[in-house]
Formats: sequence, C-alpha cells, structure tokens
Amino acid sequence: MKLLHLDSSILADNSVTRELSAVVANTIRQRHVNVETSYRDLAANPIAHLSGEIIGARFAPESDWSPLQRSEAALTDELIEEFLAADVLVIGAPMYNFSIPTQLRSWIDRVFAAGRTFKYTETGPVGLVPNKKVIVVSARGGVHSGEQGQLMDFQEDYLAKALGFLGVREVEIIRAEGVNMGPDKRATSIHMAKEAIAKLAL
Ligand SMILES: Cc1cc2nc3c(=O)[nH]c(=O)nc-3n(C[C@H](O)[C@H](O)[C@H](O)COP(=O)(O)O)c2cc1C
Repeated sequence: MKLLHLDSSILADNSVTRELSAVVANTIRQRHVNVETSYRDLAANPIAHLSGEIIGARFAPESDWSPLQRSEAALTDELIEEFLAADVLVIGAPMYNFSIPTQLRSWIDRVFAAGRTFKYTETGPVGLVPNKKVIVVSARGGVHSGEQGQLMDFQEDYLAKALGFLGVREVEIIRAEGVNMGPDKRATSIHMAKEAIAKLAL
C-alpha cells in the first residue's frame, strides 16, 4: 500500500494537524503490512506558487524552456505521479483565514492538471484520478461545524469538492475545532479527534 502524507501547518511543534495527521499515518502503518510512505512537509519545503514563467512551460516547446521551467516541470511531474500512485492520502489541512494554507494550495495548483488528473469533455469535466481514500485532518481555532460557521468554511468543503472534481469520492474528515477557545476545549477537541481516528476504517 502506498501512503502519501502531506502536512501544511506553519505552526511546527504547536500544530494540531501535524500531531493528528501523524496519528492517522501511524495507525495506517500499524494496521497494514508493507506501507510505503511518501511524506511532504509543505511548510518546511514549500512548493513555489505558480508564476507566469512556471506556467509558461505549458505553452512553449521544451527546447525553449528556461532552467527554472525545466526544474519546476520536473517537480510538477513528480508531484502528480506521487499523487496518482498513492492508495491513501493523509492531508494535514489547518483552517487559515477560512481556507487552507497557501502552502497546500501550491500543491493543489501542481496536481490539478488538465490531461493528467482531469480532462475537459464536450459534456463537462471528468476526473481522471482513480478513487483513493483521502483523510483530511482539519483544525480550526474557532467552531465552523454549525450552520452559521459552515457559511465561512472554505477549507474542508473546498478540499472535499475539489478532490471530488478529480474523481476522489472517499474523503474522511478528522476535525479538531475550537482549539483556540481555551486549553480545556483544545485538549478535549484533540482527544475527540484521536478517538475518531481510532474508529476510522483505514
Ligand atoms: C494565519 C492563521 C489564520 C487562522 N485563521 C483562522 C480562521 O479563519 N478560523 C479559525 O477558526 N481559526 C483560524 N486560525 C486558527 C487555526 O485554525 C488553529 O490555530 C489551528 O490549530 C491550525 O492548525 P495547525 O495548528 O495545524 O496549524 C488561524 C491561525 C493562523 C495561524
């Protein structure tokens, strides 16, 4: 089994999603033999945001590519292949300003590639990613799971819908929220998330 584990929190050792995504990844390794893990720390080793030069490689012959276009195209290929090859994907995805961290968005901008992970047809877009299990580990300082809070959720909802666009249907959310609403609430929330991980069919 191939496991792709991504972390995107900028909060290092204070990160809730890093703590919980590690628990998910360890649980998967405990429950299966021969788990081959690829790990990317998107905050420590950020993927460059797409720029005019990087995207320009798509519209120019390879012989005209600059050194940057060559190295970034190679990285994009590597990220797409790694994503396609994974049977299970664990994504540490904090809520920052109602959405996902920019570092995770950079990964998305590389792996959402027409012709590779989706295609446009006369009847609309079609996902090309074979179904795979995705576990999104979400943390929020406040509470966004209620009716009002959901109106400002461009994090979990975005990730689930964007992955669905590529053909991924199995998206599980592990959530710790209210983690900045006092130490007790934080501890309870993390504890409940760990209980939810233990119950996951991984
Ligand atoms: C830059 C930044 C923006 C944040 N924006 C929000 C927000 O919009 N809503 C919210 O509930 N919490 C917000 N928080 C709190 C985080 O969601 C919370 O600290 C959570 O633990 C982040 O996950 P992490 O600890 O893995 O980084 C923000 C935190 C940071 C650092």
